[in-house]
Amino acid sequence: MTPDTGPGTGPGTGTGTTDRDDSPDTSRRGTVETRRHGGIAVIALRRTAKLNALSAHLESALLDAVRSKEVTTSRAVVVTGGPRVFSAGADTTELREMTTESIAAYYRASGSVYETFAALPQPTVAAISGYCLGGGLELALAADIRVADPTASFGLPEVGIGILPSSGGVTRLVRAVGPARTRDLVLRCRRMDAAEAYAWGLVGEVTDPGAPCLERALEIAAEMAAHPPLALSVAKQVITAATDAPRESALLLEQLGYAALNAASHR
Ligand code: COA
Repeated sequence: MTPDTGPGTGPGTGTGTTDRDDSPDTSRRGTVETRRHGGIAVIALRRTAKLNALSAHLESALLDAVRSKEVTTSRAVVVTGGPRVFSAGADTTELREMTTESIAAYYRASGSVYETFAALPQPTVAAISGYCLGGGLELALAADIRVADPTASFGLPEVGIGILPSSGGVTRLVRAVGPARTRDLVLRCRRMDAAEAYAWGLVGEVTDPGAPCLERALEIAAEMAAHPPLALSVAKQVITAATDAPRESALLLEQLGYAALNAASHR
């Protein structure tokens, strides 16, 4: 089979800045920055003054970032919050001002942002430092691979404030760690450190203390980006189908995926 190839993944082949540091956005409203490291797109939440709380504004900026050319033309995507915090979840100040209906609408909208991110054809990696709570964890769960550093702290505090992680978080968490562990995290509203998250399989890797988590996420993204993009995309969809679809359908999709790749290689 002849592998399909795409744009290069080496340094300097992409657009935008190539710096890997994390200049915090100090504005309280925040932004979402997209940049390229060769063929890899980095989506960075920039609202550190509010621990990257996912306001409606930030969710909308995140959706724009996911749909941006930097991201859609990339070979792999890394999502990060920066070296101190991934995200402390939904903006509780905003939530307090909402009606029950508008909270439901907010969760529907953010769920659709995470679905759009999860549906990207290229592989995605979440680089997690510091708090990864509520919607932050829901976003991280929408990535294919999660890398944390030892400062990472995970939790779904929603039930404790009378709501539910309902942007796909419960559904994805059950599939990632199973129902018993999901109950433990969702119903007890407790926090979990990086070591426990690794033991549960919630994160695939924990970096050494002081080692930059984003660097490691970029390495993993580059490793995947070196593979043929069509095969990656089909594999990603088949893995999702194998997780969600009935067994017979998943097996069929696996075979069809192989057939599609085989046909593409003989065109
Ligand atoms: N929404 C809005 N603002 C938030 C936020 C959130 N989810 N999480 C943190 N912030 C803001 C704080 O209000 C504070 O703003 P201020 O400096 O203007 O007062 C700033 O971010 C720093 O947070 P602070 O609470 O001072 O930091 P901390 O280190 O003492 O505590 C947390 C960190 C994450 C434990 C704490 O901020 C917290 O519990 N946040 C809410 C988490 C949550 O419930 N998320 C899910 C919502 S469904």
